[in-house]
Amino acid sequence: MTNPLIPALDSDDREEVLRWAEALASEAGLLKVGLQAFVAHGPSLITEVAKLAPVFADLKLHDIPNTVAGAARVAAGLGASMVTVHASGGAAMVRAAAQSAPDVDVLAVTVLTSLAADDIQAVGQQPAERQVPQLAALAVEAGAAGIVCSAGEIEAVRAAVGPEPLIVVPGIRPAGAAADDQARTATPAAAMARGASHIVVGRPITQAADPVAAARSITASLRR
Ligand code: C5P
Repeated sequence: MTNPLIPALDSDDREEVLRWAEALASEAGLLKVGLQAFVAHGPSLITEVAKLAPVFADLKLHDIPNTVAGAARVAAGLGASMVTVHASGGAAMVRAAAQSAPDVDVLAVTVLTSLAADDIQAVGQQPAERQVPQLAALAVEAGAAGIVCSAGEIEAVRAAVGPEPLIVVPGIRPAGAAADDQARTATPAAAMARGASHIVVGRPITQAADPVAAARSITASLRR
């Protein structure tokens, strides 16, 4: 089985991101470059990190289909292996991204793992248990290769999309770790047991005294 761990390299210090990337490349299935690093250092950083390991470009694209299609195509050209779009951008937007970047896995983000039930209600959305499988089915139907959701929704997403699509799960916290701003969390082993194909772990690795040891301990916890 390929390594399911995706460390999130969230920093705007280019040297720090590259240090983490070098140290964690052999401990991870992919390395995630997200908005903070991308806004700070842009396309060249994706290209640099992609020399070390496959890159999950977590750009969470959400715009009109033509704009998202263009951005997804450019991200693919930088060497990213996965790129994210927001499923709530609609089927036409997801389809445009998937069609314009056929060589990368376009993943659709459903509902952010930082949103708790009352936050979801406050922005006028359906509860996660209803909204997430609905968005997942729409996105996969439109050509997404996978879904990003919280651990609590994995089974419902799998039932909605069938066995093939990737299910990438952030909001992962090893037992005893601080939740930070995440609300819908699970341990690495619990998320994998529920059927995640990948787990995204940021601060519990990057803010650890020894990020490599933290990554190894997460991977080891999956074998127990
Ligand atoms: O530090 P932490 O483990 O909370 O980082 C989680 C990462 O996953 C962040 O980079 C965040 O942008 C990303 N993410 C998330 N929830 C989603 C999609 C992506 O937390 N629904």
